[in-house]
Amino acid sequence: MEMIRLENLSVALGQFHLRNINLAVEKGEYVCIIGPTGAGKTVLIETIAGFHKPYKGRIILDGDDITSKPPEKRGISIVYQDYMLFPHMTVYENIAYGAKKKIRDKRILEEEIERIAHIMGISHLLNRKPETLSGGEQQRVAIARAIISKPKLLLMDEPFSALDTRTTEKLRDFVKRVATEYDLTIIHVTHDIVDVWSLADKVAIMNNGTIIQYGEVEEVFSKPADDFVAEFIDINILEGEITEVLGEMVLVKVGDTILRVKTNTTTGHRIRIFIRPEDIYISNTPPDYGPGCFRAVVEKILENGPYVQLFLSRNNIVLKAVLTRGYVRCLGLARGKHVYVYIRPENVRVAET
Ligand SMILES: Nc1ncnc2c1ncn2[C@@H]1O[C@H](COP(=O)(O)OP(=O)(O)O)[C@@H](O)[C@H]1O
Ligand SMILES: [Mg+2]
Repeated sequence: MEMIRLENLSVALGQFHLRNINLAVEKGEYVCIIGPTGAGKTVLIETIAGFHKPYKGRIILDGDDITSKPPEKRGISIVYQDYMLFPHMTVYENIAYGAKKKIRDKRILEEEIERIAHIMGISHLLNRKPETLSGGEQQRVAIARAIISKPKLLLMDEPFSALDTRTTEKLRDFVKRVATEYDLTIIHVTHDIVDVWSLADKVAIMNNGTIIQYGEVEEVFSKPADDFVAEFIDINILEGEITEVLGEMVLVKVGDTILRVKTNTTTGHRIRIFIRPEDIYISNTPPDYGPGCFRAVVEKILENGPYVQLFLSRNNIVLKAVLTRGYVRCLGLARGKHVYVYIRPENVRVAET
């Protein structure tokens, strides 16, 4: 069942335009919107919430056209980066505020608050004031306040941006739990690709006021619609020519390197292929897998916390790979070192032409 649908939604704010936004979200689905700063992500969710008036298009929520409804009548809740709790109220009162129009019976309200406080791990904080809580705790309260009214749609605008990595990881777990328990429909704006991998069913990539690509996470992240998306999701793009068909497999010549690719495209075609950095295997000894295995040189190593980004080159091809720090150490990788690269045929995606 469809919960929300945006149809050709267009908004003008000063110089900025949100153009022809189309997006459909099923009930219970978790959608992340990701894009660079200034893409229009906040304007888009503020428009869904009712704070900006579109000059074109419609917003359909649970079958109703809510395009001109005032924000408080939409049945939509929103969580911001900076918590926005009421400082003079306790945690309990803050959460109760979110339910004030929906739950009138005091006993039921109490039960509901206890239930959600339990799920969000804030039961022990109910009598405290927001200023005595950590950022992560405050955001858990803000989420509890936003969903106690059982909104048809929960919007979150960079909810983890003010939090450190450890706290963010913990919060993702709470959000995942509450999304399941309450069967929430969520649109979550983020600039962190980890949110998309770990939380979302679908992802929309935004740039310059438009949605460039929308679909299942796995699909978008393995088949970017254009170079902007490819760059943004950090995938390798190569161009090559099919030289041989071997049943379900073809051999693709990229420069002087032969890759095996699973596809039903036929010989002679120039094709574009995508390979995710985490799908590139590296070893010091030849794995003897035939085509799809080749030698390359480590051009650059970028340390990035527990993961390391490697730039591998072979003649005119440069490939980005991601390895754990431990694995890089174990292989003794360093700039200039020769390694063997292996890419499984099923991990090479062919762009539709
Ligand atoms: N109220 C406003 N009036 C005019 N321009 C605005 C307003 N709000 C946002 N903008 C502009 O719209 C663009 C998109 O902003 P925003 O949605 O906040 O981007 P994002 O959240 O993707 O970083 C920016 O260029 C911003 O300056
Ligand atoms: Mg924003």
